Amino acid sequence: MVGIRINVASSCSSILIASRGTLKTLPVGVTLKSASSTLSHSFCCTRAIAAAGDKNRTFGSTSFLFSGLNPHITRSFSEMGNRGVPKALYTLGLTKPAELSLPQIAFSAKEIDLKEWKGDILAVGVFEKDVSNGVFENGRLKELDGFVNGVLSEVAKEEDFSGKIGQTTFVRLSGFGFQRLGLVGLGKKNGVNKALKGFGEALAAAAKSAQAIRVGVILPSAQDLSTTVKLDFLSAIAAGVLLGVHEDNRFKSEAKQPLLKSLDFLELGSGLEFEHRFKYVEQVCSGVFLTRHLVNAPANVLTPSALADEASFIASTYSDVLTAKILDVEQCKELKMGSYLGVAAASANPPKFIHLIYKPPTGDVKTRLAIVGKGLTFDSGGYNLKTGPGCSIELMKFDMGGSAAALGAAKAIGQIKPLGVEVHFIVAACENMISGTGMRPGDVITASNGKTIEVNNTDAEGRLTLADALVYACKQGVDKIVDLATLTGACIIALGNEIAGMYTPNDDMAEELSKASEASGEKFWRMPLEESYWESMKSGIADMVNTGGRPGGSITAALFLKQFVDDNVKWLHIDMAGPVWSEKKRCATGFAVPTLVEWVLKNSS
Ligand code: BES
Ligand code: MN
Ligand code: ZN
Repeated sequence: MVGIRINVASSCSSILIASRGTLKTLPVGVTLKSASSTLSHSFCCTRAIAAAGDKNRTFGSTSFLFSGLNPHITRSFSEMGNRGVPKALYTLGLTKPAELSLPQIAFSAKEIDLKEWKGDILAVGVFEKDVSNGVFENGRLKELDGFVNGVLSEVAKEEDFSGKIGQTTFVRLSGFGFQRLGLVGLGKKNGVNKALKGFGEALAAAAKSAQAIRVGVILPSAQDLSTTVKLDFLSAIAAGVLLGVHEDNRFKSEAKQPLLKSLDFLELGSGLEFEHRFKYVEQVCSGVFLTRHLVNAPANVLTPSALADEASFIASTYSDVLTAKILDVEQCKELKMGSYLGVAAASANPPKFIHLIYKPPTGDVKTRLAIVGKGLTFDSGGYNLKTGPGCSIELMKFDMGGSAAALGAAKAIGQIKPLGVEVHFIVAACENMISGTGMRPGDVITASNGKTIEVNNTDAEGRLTLADALVYACKQGVDKIVDLATLTGACIIALGNEIAGMYTPNDDMAEELSKASEASGEKFWRMPLEESYWESMKSGIADMVNTGGRPGGSITAALFLKQFVDDNVKWLHIDMAGPVWSEKKRCATGFAVPTLVEWVLKNSS
């Protein structure tokens, strides 16, 4: 893994003042201290803005990278592009995110004898079929037990270990090359990638609490399996460990660094294939980390402009295969994106329409894909303000989770560089706020395909932004579109927090995504796209309303999106309102990146 660092402005040459909607750059003699003296001049200098009509509202600001691979990257203010308009207007509250540190774990697959292995923790993963009533029924497991003088079977009996998913016991040992030995349940063999990811996460947690540096894994149940299956097992575990170790400490004033440095897979095989898989895991996880960082970043830091900066930065990092186009309000007006701009209208932070294009390094393109993500950097609900207990307004920074997944996937794809496939990553980024310039309940807006929408609820804003993003995606001449959105509370009610809903009129698309999700170990459930429910979306004066009441709320939302997709384009919508966030960890999950990457690879040649 490559370290990530954030650049914080160490000096500034100008402060931007906006007055009645016009922006001026004024030279100033003020220097804001940067968060770290080691940091170089960053690409965005200090910015301040007096919002239109509010002369006294000036803020110093820092800028930072969520995704930076090159710790020494510097970009000057003038390079920010886009007609001199600053990307992020200000950072309210003077928050300066700290340097990012990513887990750097050396993976290896070794054929060495267990007697020679040295480390802090050895974890033994066991499927249910290999243990019954605390008795081991697998030859290699019995041998291992013999090697550690029966400690494993003792623990299994004492703790009633049955190999169920999530069952974990670690004991301390002496006289061996390792100080701790663990038994981890892997459950039944179906849904195995999910189980193995969980195994990796449990291992990361055990390593953290034991302050382990070196960890080893043995899967006695996998002895007789093919190399292909072993590779799948190992990548799921490696991913689980990486994702489990990762912590986003940028906004804490003190942060502990993860200690775990190496993960050895024993007796699973070794060689180049294994090395390639480890690399793939790291590439996908780097995308997941980026997604988590973007979602975790609060809305006062991650504005639509900051999100666009991140997208541009990804493109510049993998410039051999990725290019970025960022459209501002004027350009979106030219494209008649009235639905998207309606949502953005109340915010002091201008909307940014993000379009990343992946083209393979060599060869012809056979399939053109689009990944469209909902990018609400904050969703207050607008005039239909989110109020009352359970409305989760304080979590609505995560309402750009779909776009963060799209950008995380772009980052992974930029490294993997699949052939034969072109991918468009599209985000209509904005904030849903309240002001005198904002959209009113009852307003009629017109999307870029000419369809008119009576906005009967300003809190159903995600679909309004996606409408224009989907029209734009279709104009790129793509064959297939997957859109991702934290779209409805109704989907959380239907499927809970662990499972995303998918909606598509196309069985092949449903099949492609469920295959991809089997490989990624993420959970999706196909929901019906019941056309008769469209009845509730009819308007007396416009082509449609934007909400159809509570029954089947996630389905009517999907039907709304369908109005903006060309019939000849295969389309699938993912509602990830539940899985975007972990209530337990109080952090972003990075959901959907691994599945999206698998989907793109399945469409490559
Ligand atoms: N971003 C929300 C959906 C959401 C709610 C995600 C809670 C995660 C947790 C979306 O913009 C929204 O507000 N949807 C409304 C739609 C309703 C007005 C038809 C909802 O689900 O309540
Ligand atoms: Mn909303
Ligand atoms: Zn929303």
